[in-house]
Amino acid sequence: MTHHNGTIEVFRDTNSLAARAAALFADLAQHAIAERGRFSVALSGGSTPKKMYQLLAAPPLCDTITWPDVHVFWGDERYVAPDDDDSTYKMTGEALLAHVPLPAANIYLVPTIGGTPESTAASYEQTIRAFFGDHDPAFDLILLGMGPDGHTASLFPGLPAAAEPTEALVLPVDDAPKPPPTRITFTFPLINQARQVVFLIAGADKAATLQQVLHGPVDPAALPAQGVRPTNGSLIWLIDEAAAAELDPRP
Ligand code: 6PG
Repeated sequence: MTHHNGTIEVFRDTNSLAARAAALFADLAQHAIAERGRFSVALSGGSTPKKMYQLLAAPPLCDTITWPDVHVFWGDERYVAPDDDDSTYKMTGEALLAHVPLPAANIYLVPTIGGTPESTAASYEQTIRAFFGDHDPAFDLILLGMGPDGHTASLFPGLPAAAEPTEALVLPVDDAPKPPPTRITFTFPLINQARQVVFLIAGADKAATLQQVLHGPVDPAALPAQGVRPTNGSLIWLIDEAAAAELDPRP
């Protein structure tokens, strides 16, 4: 289904959504590596992408990717130690990174220990700028989720990172309503430079919000998922039937 802000694909369950997301990841990785010699991806947290990561970690998909050419970042991270059960790094590590031949140097962990949230965000922005060098920081793929309140990455409704204009690529977040409250997040200016952004959205608790995000008035400060509008890249919404239940009928 085409939408004025991207392409929408609806899946009957989370397994078929995960299978499509994993196949898309592998396809984008193969193309980026063939064309530019490397694939830069920003992973997302939450529960929805976990199955996709597990599919990528196992045959047949894991064997279709040249992992030493893959560079892994995180579009947001909870401000906890990397071995904390709330750490998105930990979840993605267990589901994917530990199972594939990815060199340690290609894992760009958000440095959540030894500084402050402000210094961590600044340092991660530096890491990203250094990775892209003279080029615009355009990730080959940014994966995103969406919460029932319309947040995406750690851009929450009404909080400054989502609601105030910024030129920063990465910002700290306090008082996030989804625990843990302190987080580090990519900003809209960084997300929207990506070549490809993919949302993974599942669950009936998101249906009403998703209807507003896709068909309601545009106000990214109130519904941050609406702020995702790649400037030169493209956007795909992978949605399960439960989350798609209230979308306007297909044209
Ligand atoms: C997190 C992510 C958050 C997540 C959405 C969707 O820390 O959890 O930053 O943006 O992607 O809340 O999460 P679910 O997939 O668990 O619904």
